[in-house]
Amino acid sequence: MSNLPRHVAVIMDGNGRWAQKRGLPRTAGHKAGAETFRTIATYCKDLGIDYLTAYAFSTENWKRPPAEVDAIMGLLDQYLHESIETMARDNIRLRFLGDVSVLSPKLRALIEETDELTRHITGFQANICLNYGGRDEIVRAARRFARECAAGERSPEDMTEALFPDYLWSAGLPDPELLIRPGGEMRVSNFLLWQCAYSEIYVTDTLWPDFGRDELDKALAWYQTRDRRFGGLSTK
Ligand code: FPP
Repeated sequence: MSNLPRHVAVIMDGNGRWAQKRGLPRTAGHKAGAETFRTIATYCKDLGIDYLTAYAFSTENWKRPPAEVDAIMGLLDQYLHESIETMARDNIRLRFLGDVSVLSPKLRALIEETDELTRHITGFQANICLNYGGRDEIVRAARRFARECAAGERSPEDMTEALFPDYLWSAGLPDPELLIRPGGEMRVSNFLLWQCAYSEIYVTDTLWPDFGRDELDKALAWYQTRDRRFGGLSTK
């Protein structure tokens, strides 16, 4: 495959509907969704895509019933436990974007361990957005820069479009060229607001737990037909 995106972002939506359609509790949908993440991350790596960023838990998802929040956190815990050894073996770096400081000490310790164990890996990077919000990320960046200005380390004129991303959770990552939203909703849902300024957005009615390799192939084939102009004129 030629003209592949370097960075694919995905809003893992439709887990609840997938479960309800089968008469299962919503948490069964999240469990299936975690498996899909594993499949798609491995497939991205095999295809030669450099980065996959998935929206696992937003700053707004705390509004869900506590039992569902607990189930998602439990799945993350289980996923990290299962992956901690295989990640390094499979040459996958796992990074977390978002404010993880409010998560349970157990989950935080696992996140730290995974981060340390896979930090040296340069082959493929999967990013899991946890307690992540695009607006929250931008506000925190502005606050940090303002603090540096107040401390005399920076002046307001230093701020540029090139510097701002260094203040985001995603510092160091290229912007995603492709944003995939399964589950059919035409929304960005506070995901990577700065980073997706020029991303191609692929929406499919397929629910995330049903999003397999063939679905990613379809999304990539669609991406390859896009004429990316970045505000300019077509070069085709
Ligand atoms: C959105 O679907 C999904 C979530 C809020 C949770 C996603 C979490 C996981 C897949 C589990 C942990 C992740 C990893 C990477 C191990 P929804 O519940 O809003 O679906 P609906 O729109 O059908 O209700």
